[in-house]
Amino acid sequence: MAVSETAAGESGRWLARAREVLPGGVSSPVRAFRGVGGTPPIVRSASGVEITDEDGKTYLDFVASWGPLILGHAHPALVEAVRTAAGRGSSFGATSRPEIELAETMVGCYPGIEQVRFVSSGTEAVMSAVRLARGATGRDLVVKFSGCYHGHADGLLVAAGSGLKTLGRPASAGVPGAYAELTRVLPLDDEDALADLFEREGDRIAAVIIEPVPANNGLLQQRPAFLDALREACTGSGALLILDEVITGFRLGPGGAADRYGLQPDLATFGKVIGGGLPVGAVAGPRAIMRKLAPEGPVYQAGTLSGNPLAMTAGLTTLRRLIEHDGWSTLEALGHEFEERVGDVLRRSETPAALARLGSIFWIAWGSTALPPAAESIPESAAARYSRVFHGLLDRGIALAPSAYEVGFLSLAHESRHLERFADALDAVLADPDGEAGR
Ligand SMILES: Cc1ncc(COP(=O)(O)O)c(C=O)c1O
Repeated sequence: MAVSETAAGESGRWLARAREVLPGGVSSPVRAFRGVGGTPPIVRSASGVEITDEDGKTYLDFVASWGPLILGHAHPALVEAVRTAAGRGSSFGATSRPEIELAETMVGCYPGIEQVRFVSSGTEAVMSAVRLARGATGRDLVVKFSGCYHGHADGLLVAAGSGLKTLGRPASAGVPGAYAELTRVLPLDDEDALADLFEREGDRIAAVIIEPVPANNGLLQQRPAFLDALREACTGSGALLILDEVITGFRLGPGGAADRYGLQPDLATFGKVIGGGLPVGAVAGPRAIMRKLAPEGPVYQAGTLSGNPLAMTAGLTTLRRLIEHDGWSTLEALGHEFEERVGDVLRRSETPAALARLGSIFWIAWGSTALPPAAESIPESAAARYSRVFHGLLDRGIALAPSAYEVGFLSLAHESRHLERFADALDAVLADPDGEAGR
């Protein structure tokens, strides 16, 4: 399918203006559609499950702003709460009631955490957690896993090196080699590589950070035995285990992936859902570790807009609705229905594909009928196949993330009829010989 790189209409005119003043026309790279080709719509508004672009075209949305919008777009209760909060002042630069209540709610839900430090993004949360881990242990190395994404802090934009395999090398221009050298990169799903590294350098490791359900390179569900081995290795060597729950926190359930896998982290990082669509991140843990943060302890960490009352209100409203309406059970039922409908379409199609689904998170592995456990096992053909499916769906008014490696999200605004529409559209796209999706 030939996809034009220029767009017509109002959206196209705004995109041309955007490209003049924003690098790539965006404020975050994947939004530019480079992974799928074509041109992104410029969004005017969104409500419930629907996004509307500047030409008035609507899309049934499965991106949910990359995860935060678990209630759907512009949920009336959230809009009302934020409107009221804004009337009281948009930022105080001081502790306020919704901040305390959001922290209390998180502490009441997530296993083993007693205190929370709020920041304004997931990246900041991870950066702060890593510094805290280094400050608390007095060690310098951080271990991450290939295929996991933890935001764009220097020390984590690091890929596995080619020489001594676990030694990190910068994954972006602008990341100094000296920073990357303090990061070790391991493959997922590999207890031997983990044991090897701890054997060699265990006494230098401050923290191991992992997405307990890696969801930034497809949805790479890990074996519980692998996660248990990780917990044991950290405990055995005195390294802290940081669970990066920026996607999974309060999306998989009140206790996130930690609760689902019976895994107790030393620190956990959050973002997305706990901000209800406003900019938020958080690092949380037991008091014994959290009190090392300034002003109580020696690890410096701060933020002008941290604990912003509008963001705290949006997050609190989101979590309260989830708790009061047992939103996670509804999402699990929706997820189950999605899996049945879409699984059926994929089974009938000649295109090799496998559906991964956990709660309200989903991903389709194109080009393989088995789910890959690690990023390296995703077939290279996946991106080209996905591009055709993505555009076929977009033409039919359905928005998925513009990258083969990004997951999709269901929200409480989705209903059976939306899932049916998705499945029918996917069926049509896969059967369309002109769209070539099936090749
Ligand atoms: C697991 C994980 N950690 C950290 C981040 C960074 O969060 P943010 O984009 O809010 O900086 C992301 C973003 O997608 C993420 O998925």
